Amino acid sequence: MKAVVLVGGEGTRLRPLTYTTPKPLLPIANVEFLERQLAWLARHGVDEAVLSLGYMPEAFTRHFHDERFGDMKLRFVVEHEPLGTAGGIRFAAEGINERMLVCNGDVLTDLDLSAFVRFHDECGAEATISLAQVEDPSAFGVVPTRTDGEVIAFVEKPPREQVPTNWINAGTYVLEPSVLDGIPARLNVSIERETFPRMLERPGRLYAMQSDAYWLDIGTPQKYFEAHVDVCSGRLGRPPVAGASEWSSGVWVQPGATIAPDAELVAPVLIGERANVGSGARIEASVLGADVEVGAGASLARSVVLDAVSVAPGASIADLVVAPDAALPCGPREG
Ligand code: GTP
Repeated sequence: MKAVVLVGGEGTRLRPLTYTTPKPLLPIANVEFLERQLAWLARHGVDEAVLSLGYMPEAFTRHFHDERFGDMKLRFVVEHEPLGTAGGIRFAAEGINERMLVCNGDVLTDLDLSAFVRFHDECGAEATISLAQVEDPSAFGVVPTRTDGEVIAFVEKPPREQVPTNWINAGTYVLEPSVLDGIPARLNVSIERETFPRMLERPGRLYAMQSDAYWLDIGTPQKYFEAHVDVCSGRLGRPPVAGASEWSSGVWVQPGATIAPDAELVAPVLIGERANVGSGARIEASVLGADVEVGAGASLARSVVLDAVSVAPGASIADLVVAPDAALPCGPREG
């Protein structure tokens, strides 16, 4: 089966990290998010993925320079101006004349895609949307359905007191090729705000499947951090990264890391390849990337420290996402 993965957005809410790395290539627990997503697609039989690119396309073509991810073939399609979610799908899916999976490139999930496609088949749908349940749906597209799954309405970001249901559009779709015919070519069109609502004008076309699978949109700093905690806590399988070993429950260490015997590690923790944790340091609910240096007596709590960061001896860091190669704490600028 083929999949289209939407990875063309600028990721403005994760700036400044996304000034240098597009959101789908930011790591989650030391594995690029997009690699996690492609591995999930591959587990459910996707053998070809089209990456719908717009922002920083060279970062993707460089990362997947042989146009493969394991056994999966990759194709790159670059938009020269943003086409929105539906316009992007239509442009990327040019030439695909069969049923396809489509996913937003910023949703971490272990949704059973095989069951999802079966549901789509059983409904005889033209398009099927996966739904996730959240406590506060007011920031999402809310999707009330009939008991058989047919979508009744699309309510984009309703005020809290007018929320019709807690089930929201989870950003994974099965589409028949006929859906693409209804999307105008080369225009900026939103699938959530335009294509799906328009499909409701005729019954029997648009269905949605409720699922309690793990689901998280990684698009804000808070959610980006949460994704690390969930992956390191084993909510998406173990180990969190291939090759990591579990030192104690929820404390994972990658090959080549050195940790002083008197350092204190409080789960969930992941220490990256060749990272070095000095004597008396304390690391709690945090992830260190590759080649990170943590000085003696330093303390890190609830933080994600990306590759090659150095943390000075005795420094104290909490609730931060630290960009690669930074030195902490930052001293006053000279001159
Ligand atoms: P923010 O700017 O922080 O909202 O992030 P974003 O740019 O990723 O936007 P959003 O979270 O709404 O996008 C959801 C998914 O659609 C992400 O995977 C984006 O990469 C992708 N996306 C958004 N706009 C476009 C677009 O115009 N073209 C393509 N190809 N993908 C898009």
